Amino acid sequence: MIVYLNGEFLEKEKALISVEDRAFLFADGVYEVIRCYEGQPFQLEEHLRRLDGSVRAIRIDFSDSGTIGQVAKRLIAENRVTKGDALIYIEITRGSAPRVHTFPPTGTKPNVYVATMEFHPKQHQLENGISVILVPDIRWLRCDVKSVGLLPNVLMAQRALDEGADDAIFVRDGVAIEGTASNVFGVFGGVVVTHPKTNLTLAGITRDVVLELCAKLGFPTREAPILESQLSRAEELFVTSTTMEITPVVKVNGRAIGDGTPGSITRRIQKAFRELVTSL
Ligand code: PDD
Repeated sequence: MIVYLNGEFLEKEKALISVEDRAFLFADGVYEVIRCYEGQPFQLEEHLRRLDGSVRAIRIDFSDSGTIGQVAKRLIAENRVTKGDALIYIEITRGSAPRVHTFPPTGTKPNVYVATMEFHPKQHQLENGISVILVPDIRWLRCDVKSVGLLPNVLMAQRALDEGADDAIFVRDGVAIEGTASNVFGVFGGVVVTHPKTNLTLAGITRDVVLELCAKLGFPTREAPILESQLSRAEELFVTSTTMEITPVVKVNGRAIGDGTPGSITRRIQKAFRELVTSL
């Protein structure tokens, strides 16, 4: 497996990074995960634009996201992940420098890492749906930045597994915000509702695609907070992400959503999504 690190293409085992890397020391970095279908990166430009936004938000001096797109395409070819599903992982950190909290000296180069990997989607979850638990949103107030500081996400995803569920949804001030690595949608009175893009959620690329598909399918949509207290009345619930695509949620805290099986609107969005990615 060949990866890209700071201008070089090299074997993954040879891609080494300093113990003074700012992301290692402070989680001082941002990342992207991009899906590839049959070797075609899905929504590449949108992901790179979001990466630019993350980099800018945390004031890392990096303006070369165009190159990253080229790098990713070369890795797909060199690693021959041109069949089936794959992921591109990109991470940009504030570079390596002695540990002081303030930014490293001017001229410190960011560390830039790009890798590709085969990916095996969880088909049974796409087909049958998942169960989730609700957990307190203990994250910071800049969840719109795709930061590698994912400890709350890690802890809550694991808590869900430990409690026999598949994933967790963060709740802040009575609002179901998003999943540990996904956006949340609910269907209420036939309207497809998802949290607006604010500092409290990641602006999911899949979320945008789903809103566009809803418009095409004629499903009304609304970007509004979904209250925890409304969840039991949702006709359907689903989560979206690069890795989970459109995954139905059939149980919340052990209680069935709708009749406890994936809903018909969810199914139609899943179908439209599949048609979209197979037409690439
Ligand atoms: N995560 N919200 C959070 C907190 C996420 O981490 C993600 C994706 C999303 C969905 O975004 P998108 O549709 O652009 O993938 C929402 C990636 C997949 C990850 O961390 O692996």
